[in-house]
Amino acid sequence: MHINISPTKTEVAKNFSDYLKELIKENKTTHIALSGGSTPKVVFDYMAEHYKDVDWSTVHLYWGDERCVPPTDSESNYKMTVDHLLSKINIPKDNIHRVRGEDLPELEAGRYGKVLEEELPIVNNTPQFDLVILGMGDDGHTASIFPHEIDLWDSTNNCEVAVHPDSGQRRITITGKLINNATTVAFLVTGGSKAEKVRSIITKEEGHESYPASLVSPSSGELIWFLDEEAAAQIN
Ligand code: 6PG
Repeated sequence: MHINISPTKTEVAKNFSDYLKELIKENKTTHIALSGGSTPKVVFDYMAEHYKDVDWSTVHLYWGDERCVPPTDSESNYKMTVDHLLSKINIPKDNIHRVRGEDLPELEAGRYGKVLEEELPIVNNTPQFDLVILGMGDDGHTASIFPHEIDLWDSTNNCEVAVHPDSGQRRITITGKLINNATTVAFLVTGGSKAEKVRSIITKEEGHESYPASLVSPSSGELIWFLDEEAAAQIN
C-alpha cells in the first residue's frame, strides 16, 4: 500500500494525473474503471486542461459504478465524465464503455458484467482492469457498495444492483472480485469528512471491516491512496 498525501484537492488531482499519464504511456492498452461522485471532477478538469498530449486511443474507459438514471441526468456519473473530460479529449467512441443507467437495473447489471468479460483480459478466471479508481463516502462505502449491503462485495457476479441507503437511488456496481483482481487500485479521497474512516481503515481499527472500503486489497498488492491533508488529518 502506498499513501500519497498532497496539501490540497487540486494537488491531489495533479499528482494522480501525473501517475495516470505515466501508466498510460507504459501500457500498450490501459483498461480503467472510473469512479463517480464529486472528487473525480477536479482530476478530470486538470487532465483535460493539462494533458492534451495523452494518447487516449490506447485507453478504454469503464465505470466502477453508475446511478440508475439516463445519461443526460445530472446524477449520471457518465454525464459528469463527459462534461469534465470526455467532451474535451480525443478518445475513440468505441473505447468508452458506459453503464446504461437508463435500462432496467437487473438486466443492465447482467449486460455490463458480460461487457467486462468480453472487453477485459481474463486473469484468475476474472476480468482484470489495469486500474480501478475508487472514491470513498463518509460512511466508508466505495464504488456503490454501502455498509448496509456489504455482502454484495462477495458476490460471484461481476456487477450487482445496489441501493443508496438515504436516497433509495438504485445503482449498478462492480463487485469485490473485480476490484481486488485489478492490477492497481487507486483511492481518490479528499476532505475532512473522510478523515475518520481513512484512519479507521488504514490503521485497521476495531470495526473497520464493516466499511466496504476496508475490503479493498488487490491480490497484486498495488493499492494507492491519493489523499489531501484534510482527509489524511488523522493518520498524518
Ligand atoms: C458514486 C461513487 C461513490 C463516490 C463516493 C465519494 O457514484 O457516488 O462512485 O463511490 O466515489 O461517494 O464521493 P465524493 O467524491 O463525492 O466524496
